[in-house]
Amino acid sequence: MREKIIRFSTTLPCLLLLFCGLALMPAAATGGELFPVTTPKISKPEMPKVIFPHDKHVDAVEAKNGDCSTCHNMTDAGMSETLKDVTSVAANKQVKYMHAACTDCHVKAGKGPRLVDCRVCHNERTASEFAGKKK
Ligand code: HEC
Ligand code: HEC
Ligand code: HEC
Repeated sequence: MREKIIRFSTTLPCLLLLFCGLALMPAAATGGELFPVTTPKISKPEMPKVIFPHDKHVDAVEAKNGDCSTCHNMTDAGMSETLKDVTSVAANKQVKYMHAACTDCHVKAGKGPRLVDCRVCHNERTASEFAGKKK
């Protein structure tokens, strides 16, 4: 009996901690909202920054029985926060890799911008609205 009480009194705080931890997790960690694409790093961008509608993608991918690993590699260190294999590609080929990785799926899905739709991804208004919100 005594043992049971001890066990209960240690599990409960643990569960509470876990619960609060989850509630405090930023929207980013739960797959929410809009994320600026951070890879590759571009020192002098020619185009407006791509702001990625993450939530919308998670919904679309899950509707087709995909999951986080459709876009993020699972490594020993945990889940990558970049798109698929982009960090394994030579730096000067990463933009090309991103263009292909983003648009291949759109072509297959018959939804989402194709490579010719530059301004859907590189959208001045979306980028400046996002930059404004951060301030
Ligand atoms: C359709 C592709 C796709 C799917 C599916 C997807 N992600 Fe992402 N995710 C991305 C892209 C693209 C980025 C931005 C990568 C970058 O910054 O270069 C990103 C970024 C992130 C980040 C980093 C956010 C930040 O603030 O930098 C986290 C965390 C993340 N995703 C978690 C998840 C989780 C959890 C799931 C599953 C529920 C998921 N993602 C599913 C494409 C996806
Ligand atoms: C695994 C598949 C997949 C990948 C990878 C993917 N997308 Fe998409 N994307 C979709 C689908 C499906 C839609 C259509 C969503 C809808 O209409 O609900 C979409 C729609 C979009 C849209 C239009 C959103 C809107 O509001 O209409 C943008 C912008 C976009 N994707 C950008 C990107 C970028 C940038 C990347 C790469 C970083 C990317 N996507 C990678 C599947 C993908
Ligand atoms: C499906 C979304 C998508 C489409 C369509 C797209 N791009 Fe990109 N592009 C990206 C992503 C993601 C990056 C890497 C992240 C970033 O630089 O914001 C990128 C990066 C770039 C870069 C390097 C960064 C910079 O600003 O100099 C250039 C240049 C570029 N794209 C030009 C184009 C042109 C031109 C088109 C149309 C022919 C185009 N892109 C269409 C998603 C897209």
